[in-house]
Amino acid sequence: MIVSIESSCDDSSIAITEIATKKVLYHKKISQEAQHACYGGVVPELASRLHAVALPQILEETKPWFDKLKAVAVTNQPGLGVTLLEGIAMAKTLATLLNIPLIPVHHLKGHIYSLFIEKPTHSPMLILLISGGHTMVIRVESFEKMEILATSMDDSVGESFDKTAKMMGLGYPGGPIIEQLALKGDENRFDLPVPLRNSKLIAFSLSGLKNAVRLEIERLGGAEAMSEQERCDLAASFQKAVKLHLLQKSKKIFKNEPVKDFAIVGGASANQYIRNAYETLCKEFGKHLHVAPLEYCSDNAAMIGRYAIDAYEKKQFATPDKVDLIVTKKQQQGALL
Ligand code: KG4
Ligand code: ZN
Repeated sequence: MIVSIESSCDDSSIAITEIATKKVLYHKKISQEAQHACYGGVVPELASRLHAVALPQILEETKPWFDKLKAVAVTNQPGLGVTLLEGIAMAKTLATLLNIPLIPVHHLKGHIYSLFIEKPTHSPMLILLISGGHTMVIRVESFEKMEILATSMDDSVGESFDKTAKMMGLGYPGGPIIEQLALKGDENRFDLPVPLRNSKLIAFSLSGLKNAVRLEIERLGGAEAMSEQERCDLAASFQKAVKLHLLQKSKKIFKNEPVKDFAIVGGASANQYIRNAYETLCKEFGKHLHVAPLEYCSDNAAMIGRYAIDAYEKKQFATPDKVDLIVTKKQQQGALL
């Protein structure tokens, strides 16, 4: 069995996965959403301290499996430096104490493997990854050969939902809040710009749309002055613009990519409105749409454990002194992922 640890952002999660059957024997996640909600986003220092409390609590419950463990897997990049460190420190200690190998896991590969929890892997595939930190289309030729075909030039999809909710004073995380409000709204009420609509670029951009939402809120007299219906209509109009943007760029990619299997992964892939739109697009292009079960769309240790099974079979191990966190300059400044 493999114990896997995920702490790249605001979810403390640990899973136990059986190597031979790929079965998830144990999985727990303690989310910090409530503690970050009043700030409208994740506060890295607070997140790190909450991981320091939650991770040992969860680990305690996995003790019955300790004597059967063959490896410890841990997310080591990308993510918030101070929160990744909590998981990495725990993983290094466990691997040393139990004298078993360590498997460092790239968080985004973990999201891709959320498609294969308790299942065999599948390739080639085209993947749309929409999370709080990333927006990209990846061609997975094989799991050794992945190519990024398009990426966001600024904000990610999840981030744009979070910021829209924050501007309307609605809490964090914004994705599920906006999706729920949009169900009661008129998506044609506000004419928000579809990003890069007239550009040939195969890329994503969400910051202009965010600014348009900000201006619309100002025009309505500010978040406090908005009626419930205005909030619902703005949420729906925003979500529609995001959908049209994603679909427009995906269409361009689909035209050149014969790969028949397409998947959406990452926290924002839980959005049913976006899923439905891709269901229709995939039918049009003769592609088969794959999504992960809802419980594994957002950050979780089960996807890290699933990746680790393949890494274990390929003996992709590291020793505790070699597992380090990889932090970019942007992340040092506290940016999400
Ligand atoms: O994958 P994830 O848990 O963390 C990162 O790796 O970033 O994604 C979290 C993001 C948040 O920005 C959250 O607002 C967004 O996923 N999200 C959604 C929905 N549920 C979560 N975005 C849109 N619609 C949703 N239903
Ligand atoms: Zn994630």
